[in-house]
Amino acid sequence: MAHSTVISTPATVSRSRHTSTFYNDVVQGLRAQQKYLDPKYFYDAPGDVLFQQIMQCPEYYLTACEMEIMQEQSAAIAAAFDEHASDYDIVELGAGDASKSVHLLKQLLDNGVDYTYFPIDISGNVIQLLEDSLPESLPGLQFQGLQGEYFEMLKVANDISPKRKIILFMGANIGNFTPFAARSFCQQLRRHMHPGDLLLTGFDLKKHPQLILHAYNDDAGITREFNFNLLRRINRELDGNFDISQFEHFPTYDPQTGSCKSYLISLCDQQVRIGDNVVIKFRENEPLYMEISQKYDPVEIDQLASLGGFAPVARFSDHRNWFSDYLWQAI
Ligand SMILES: C[S@@+](CC[C@H](N)C(=O)[O-])C[C@H]1O[C@@H](n2cnc3c(N)ncnc32)[C@H](O)[C@@H]1O
Repeated sequence: MAHSTVISTPATVSRSRHTSTFYNDVVQGLRAQQKYLDPKYFYDAPGDVLFQQIMQCPEYYLTACEMEIMQEQSAAIAAAFDEHASDYDIVELGAGDASKSVHLLKQLLDNGVDYTYFPIDISGNVIQLLEDSLPESLPGLQFQGLQGEYFEMLKVANDISPKRKIILFMGANIGNFTPFAARSFCQQLRRHMHPGDLLLTGFDLKKHPQLILHAYNDDAGITREFNFNLLRRINRELDGNFDISQFEHFPTYDPQTGSCKSYLISLCDQQVRIGDNVVIKFRENEPLYMEISQKYDPVEIDQLASLGGFAPVARFSDHRNWFSDYLWQAI
C-alpha cells in the first residue's frame, strides 16, 4: 500500500550559488546587443502567485483546455501509459502548483499503480507548496520534490529510483523555447531518458491570432505585472534600481511563425544600476525581450518528436482542439 512520504531534496541549490547565477545571467542578458532576460527567473514567490492568477484569467485559455484534458481523459492517458510501460515513476518538469496533473496522479492511484511522483521545479516556493498540499490533496501519494533545473534534477530522480520514467512536461512549458531551442531541448531530454520511457508534453496549438495575443495581454493586467515582477525581483535580490513606471508591457504574436513574444519597452533614455558595478543604458523605445510562447501545428509537433528521437504514441486534445497533450516514447 502506497503511503505519503515527504523527503527533503538532497540537491537544493544553495542560496549564494543561485544568486550569483541569477546575477550573471541578468547582467549577460542586459549587456547583450538585443537585451533579454531568461524567463525561468519569473518564478520567485510573488511570480508564482502571479502565474497562478494568470492561470485563472478568462483570457488565458491554456489552463482551462489542459484542465479539461486532465479531468476528462486521465483514464485514457493512464491506459496509454499502461499499454506502453510498466513499473514506472512519474517525473514532472516545471510542475508549478500541479493543479492539472493531480487529476492524472489521482487516476493512477485509483488504478493501484505503485509509483513515486518527482515534481521538479526551479522555484523552491513551488516545491514547498507541493510538499505542504499533496499529502492532503492526494493521500497515499509517494512523492519527492526536487528543487532545481530540469536536467540536473532529472538525473537526481534517476539516481534515486531505477524504475522506468514517465515524464510530464505540461502547461505549454515547451513553448517557452524558440522552435530551434525546443528541438535541442527534446534531444537533450531524450539523452536523459532510456529507450521505452514516455514523455507527455503540452502544446498550445495555432489558432486565431487575436485569441492568442489576448491570452498574453489580459484586461486585468496580471501578465503585465508578471513581467514587471522580474524587474522588481532584480531590484530586490540584486540591488537593482529599475523604475517600473518607465517601462511598458508589449506582447506580440506573429501568426506565420507561431511566435508570441513579450517585451518591456523603455519609455525614455534611462540608466539602470545593478549592484555597485553594473550600469545598463536603455534608449527610448528600446525593447527588453522577456519571453516566447511558441504555438505549434500538428505537423511541426510530429517533426519535433522525430528530430528529438521519439515515436508518437497518442494525442489528447480539448473539445475545441486548441491545446493537445502529446504522448511520445523514447526510441
Ligand atoms: C509556465 S509554469 C507551468 C507550470 C505547470 N507545468 C502548469 O502547467 O501549470 C512553468 C514552471 O516551470 C518552472 N521552470 C521554468 N524553468 C525551469 C527550469 N529551467 N528548471 C526547472 N523548472 C523550471 C517554473 O518555476 C514554473 O513553476
